[in-house]
Parts: sequence; structure tokens; C-alpha cells
Amino acid sequence: MPSDVHEIDRAVGLLQAGELVAFPTETVYGLGADAANPTAVGRIFAAKGRPADHPLIVHLPADGYLDRWAREIPAVAWELAEAFWPGPLTLILKRAPAVSSAITGGQDSVGLRVPAHPLALALLRAYARAGGGVDGMSGIAAPSANRFGRISPTEAAHVHDELGDAVGLILDGGRCPVGIESTILDLTPAAGLPPRLLRPGRVTPEQIRMVIGVLPEIVGHQADDGTPRVSGSLAAHYAPTTPLLLVTPERLAEAIERLRCSRRRCAVLCHSELPDDGAALAVRRLPSDPRGYARTLYAALRDLDRAATDLILVEEIPATPAWAAVADRLRRAAAGAGRNGEAATPR
Ligand code: TXA
Ligand code: MG
Repeated sequence: MPSDVHEIDRAVGLLQAGELVAFPTETVYGLGADAANPTAVGRIFAAKGRPADHPLIVHLPADGYLDRWAREIPAVAWELAEAFWPGPLTLILKRAPAVSSAITGGQDSVGLRVPAHPLALALLRAYARAGGGVDGMSGIAAPSANRFGRISPTEAAHVHDELGDAVGLILDGGRCPVGIESTILDLTPAAGLPPRLLRPGRVTPEQIRMVIGVLPEIVGHQADDGTPRVSGSLAAHYAPTTPLLLVTPERLAEAIERLRCSRRRCAVLCHSELPDDGAALAVRRLPSDPRGYARTLYAALRDLDRAATDLILVEEIPATPAWAAVADRLRRAAAGAGRNGEAATPR
């Protein structure tokens, strides 16, 4: 059931009191707290089981709030905000002096975005109208509302499965329309250097180039000292507990058959032909376009994980730029899947 105005008022009250509220964004559900209240932010880390050096994204009601949170904002930031906000693009900017290191993981930068989901915007605007929390800053910090390292939730029920009673209120906005996390673009490189794409998402490097005239540099996701700056950049992110193996479309039927012969139970995630062999215990067929696929990917992985098979076989997707964000998530899911480090091989 969609949340109503009364629920938003309750959410505002909880945030003012330093409590957690989960809410839908257009990408995935977020686990929110007043971003200017370090105690409240600490509750996010505790609920997720997330290491304290992983910075959080701060959600804002509009780009007019940008300069409370960031300093030395380059012109391209305003151009990108104008083009893509509200929407699935997170900008990394130098942080304003008041921004707590609980948010930034001790870094000198902060991640900011204005989400496009109507419920998220209604919550952010209502929070600002009610005074904006600590120091009137009006920012809601929200990582994806899953336990650390797990699949991001794209439905309210997933949030409950992940976090249970650790969250005071879950606003239900139905299924998230984008389905994978926002594009993260680092605008802190010195003038003259291209911005850096830290995480691929719905907003593509080419779309960014069309706005600012420069193609972002697509970077390896580790800081120089090996500290992960983008938590989704850890190899073991977005992972189901069942081992997961990527297989080319041509070899899918053969892989299923081999598993059947070795009496191992498998689930299949495909996007072209449904394998005609009935040996798979659970099969999900996703749309064959990248946007449709992204929208349904995480819910499908959750379902297949629950089927408790020995292996999830995933039909490989095309190696084209349009599929880059999905490819990134599948690679990480394959790298992180299976808690015991069991080798994901169909042999
Ligand atoms: O779509 C999204 O971005 C969702 C929704 C809820 O907005 N949020 C999300 O948050 O994916 P999270 O915390 O799961 O991933 C955001 C990533 C973090 O892993 C963090 O490392 C990175 O953004 N990040 C935040 N601030 C940063 C900074 N100052 N420098 C580099 N990376 C940063
Ligand atoms: Mg996350």
C-alpha cells in the first residue's frame, strides 16, 4: 500500500528524533537519517553492519541546498544538477566545513543527490519545511537499505527482510523504477582534469559528456591506499548467498545439463530464450533491454537466492555500453556470492 501524508509526518518526526526511516528512491530503497546528526548517522552504520570508513550519500530536497553541503562547487556541478536532478546521479564534491566526518568517512568530499522518487521528494521537502533537522541542514543521509554487502532492496518488503525491526518506519512506494544504484561522479579532480566515474548507473558517461563536454574517466574503484571509497566497489558487493556463475547464452543449456548430471540443483537467470530443459529448479526471465533488466534484477536475484539451490546460473548480457551498469552489478554479484567462498563451477 502506498504511504500517505500521515506516514510522511511520522517519518519527519522520527528523523527529527534521530531515528531511522527507510524510504523509496527511483534507484533502490534508502535507509535514512538526519545527515547533520552524527548520532542518527551512527545508527545507520549499526543497522547495516557497515564499516565506519564508508561514506554515505546525502539526499537533498533541491539543488538550492547544494552549497550548505559542498564548497568550491564547479560550474559543471550546477550544469549536471540542472540536467539530471531530481534523478539517479550522485555528485562527489568538496565538503562544506560543517559536514560531519560521520557522513564522509573522514574524507574531504561528500556525495550529494536529489532523488526523483515522488515519496523521497515529498519526505525531503516536508523535512525541510519542518525546520530541516539539526542546524536546518535539510539533508537525509541514506545508503541502500540492505545489510552490508548484500543485494540492494527494490521493494519495501525487501527492506523488512534485510533490516527487520532495526528501522522505525518503512515508507512503501512500491517497486523502484530504476532498480540499480545511482551513477556516482567525482567532481573533485583539479580543474582541467576530467571528472571520474566511480560507479556506473542509469546516467551514462555519454549523457554526462553531452552536458559538460567532457567524457568522465572510468576509474578502478579503489583509493590509492586500498581503502574502498565506494562501498559498492568492493568485489563482494550486491551478492546473493548462493554461488552465482555467469555463462554465455550458447553454453547455458549445456551448463544446466552438466549440473543435472552431477545432481546439483541450479536456478537460472536469463533474458533471451527460456532454457527448454526442465532441470533448473527455479528460472527467472528478465526483459532483454538494459533498463527493463536493471529494474527487475535485484528482486529476481533475491527470489532465486531463496530457492536455496547449489548454484545460480546467469546468462551473460551483451558487452555493450548500454549494459555497462548491469554488467558491473552482475560481476560483483558473481564475485561476492556464496558465503563460504565455495567455487562457483558447474563441474
Ligand atoms: O542510488 C543510490 O545511490 C542509493 C539511494 C538510496 O540513493 N544509495 C546508495 O548508497 O547506493 P550506498 O551507501 O549503498 O552507496 C553509495 C556510495 C557509497 O558506497 C559510498 O562509498 C559512495 O557512495 N560515496 C559516498 N560519499 C562518497 C565520497 N565522498 N567519495 C567517494 N564515494 C562516496
Ligand atoms: Mg549500498
